[in-house]
Amino acid sequence: MRSVGIIGTGSFAPPKVLTNSDLEKMVDTSDEWIRTRTGIRERRIAEPEVASSDLAAESARRALDSAGLGATSIGLIIVATVTPDMSFPCTASLLQEMLGATGAAAFDLVVGCTGFVYGLAAAREMIATGAYERALVVAAETLSRITDWQDRRTCVLFGDAAGSAILAPVEEGRGILAYSLGNDGTNADALKLPAGGSRLPASAETVANRQHYLTMNGQEVFKFAVRAMVESSEEVVRRAGLTMSDIAVVIPHQANLRIIEAAAKRMDLPIERFECNIDRYGNTSAATIPLALDEAVRAGRIKSGDYILLSVFGAGLAWGSMVLRW
Ligand code: ACO
Repeated sequence: MRSVGIIGTGSFAPPKVLTNSDLEKMVDTSDEWIRTRTGIRERRIAEPEVASSDLAAESARRALDSAGLGATSIGLIIVATVTPDMSFPCTASLLQEMLGATGAAAFDLVVGCTGFVYGLAAAREMIATGAYERALVVAAETLSRITDWQDRRTCVLFGDAAGSAILAPVEEGRGILAYSLGNDGTNADALKLPAGGSRLPASAETVANRQHYLTMNGQEVFKFAVRAMVESSEEVVRRAGLTMSDIAVVIPHQANLRIIEAAAKRMDLPIERFECNIDRYGNTSAATIPLALDEAVRAGRIKSGDYILLSVFGAGLAWGSMVLRW
């Protein structure tokens, strides 16, 4: 099996900013509550005519540029999203056409916020076996479209963005060293979009009942999140033959700064090793990891030879952690 790593990254967030004080005018909340409970100051919102594939395409072009590759060199496209442009065809198909990645295999992954790490794992295996040479893994979300802007418990948390990575064979001992993915379906109700699928098709009633918006049991997810991140991180670091102190940079899912701080404490790692941009983007679901990764790479905070830990949780409830050597 060949070693497989990330050879380029890119990200894109729409320019329109929605601040906490903007939200104070929309629901009964305060900048102080949002900052102290979540760490979020502002988030980005896509214009009405912009869909997830548009954000995906911009981030993918930036990743291709950083890898010095053209779209036709990509044989496989995986898009992680819970906000596809439409139910089908998959957003990856639309992206393939937008990029001009002629003939590339293309499919979507729906694993909530963990989708990007699942996508990296899938692409890694498909390249390691020799089936494909280069893959584009994208996470793109327009969560603003499934956010209930009348529900203060959820609408303060989410934002829109996309992030991409190009995967290819790398020298032995580099790239993705280990990953750990899991899911606990007994908690599937804690985070969901109730209507619009085969269980509860769209109807005038589902629209009237506001069932096309995301619902969440915040406290249930919070408890699960810290445990899932810590346990899967410890497991994956062990599988990579490392100890936690070897990890130079952690890219955690950006759902709540308090979750990141609690995980850092339990992992006995200084918070300075954790990339945090939740203050500027909020929770962009599957896109948080590639967005934070791309910012860290471009700012020079990730150096050649560094051990990097990605760790995420989300709807499912699912989790995923991965160790890479840059
Ligand atoms: N502004 C003001 N008050 C609010 C707001 C708000 N925006 N939202 C809730 N409150 C109130 C509640 O009504 C409650 O009031 P009450 O005590 O009078 O009933 C009080 O604040 C406390 O509410 P809690 O739900 O206990 O607040 P908590 O400290 O748990 O924070 C939060 C809520 C931020 C949602 C937290 O539970 C959390 O972050 N959970 C994890 C969520 C998560 O990670 N989700 C994403 C996972 S997957 C994905 O990324 C898509």
